[in-house]
Amino acid sequence: MARVSARKRGRFITFEGLDGCGKSTQLKRLAEVLRAEGIAVLVTREPGGTPIGERLRSIVLDSATLGLAPRAELAILFAARAQQVHENILPALKAGRWVLCDRFTDSSEAYQGGGRGLGSEAVLTMHRVVCGNLQPDMTVLMDSDVTASVARARRRNLAKVATAPDGEADENRFEQENQAFFTRVQQAYHAIAKREPQRVLMLDARRQPDVVHREIVEVVRQRFLGAANERQSKN
Ligand code: TMP
Repeated sequence: MARVSARKRGRFITFEGLDGCGKSTQLKRLAEVLRAEGIAVLVTREPGGTPIGERLRSIVLDSATLGLAPRAELAILFAARAQQVHENILPALKAGRWVLCDRFTDSSEAYQGGGRGLGSEAVLTMHRVVCGNLQPDMTVLMDSDVTASVARARRRNLAKVATAPDGEADENRFEQENQAFFTRVQQAYHAIAKREPQRVLMLDARRQPDVVHREIVEVVRQRFLGAANERQSKN
């Protein structure tokens, strides 16, 4: 695992889950709590987060992108990620900032590895080669109902398309996948949580957002802001 200086390094927390599971809202709410504690926080997302990454995002998410081969899709996602790690994540962690990232390599393992059927090994190998195997300190996996999440994401994106200027790229390529695809994505997420229980906090995202938020804050406080951690970071 790639390690940046252990002493003053910031924390790297990622949020994962199916489209429409509510992870982006939870990420923003955690960022607000951390900032109120005086912690410098970088909020970013994948694919995207850098000017180059955002351009790659519009290629990979636009439903007008036809015929993209699964391995080409994986390569584009990792190109955006490599840029994000280089330009945003490592510099922020080295400067002692915390990074909250909306999706990371677990998304590739779930969507491309599981959903597209490329398997975990291809994704984990890419991660080692192009991202130096950088691992989050913690991953919040928002476990939700496949049908409800996808319906919610579709409604959200239809509303975005209705208000977007003519000819603007949409973000609907994945939402057009079927129930079987998202069921494979969810199964892959569950397998990751089972394999790495110390990193991955899987929680029931079907509960009230306030309840989910309180649980996330409690775990983050226990893991990273407790008295023992405070002492360690001062040494
Ligand atoms: P978002 O709506 O959470 O921004 O996610 C964008 C879409 O991109 C979502 O459908 C999941 C997909 N995706 C992948 O398939 N693989 C990846 O590695 C990432 C980061 C996203």
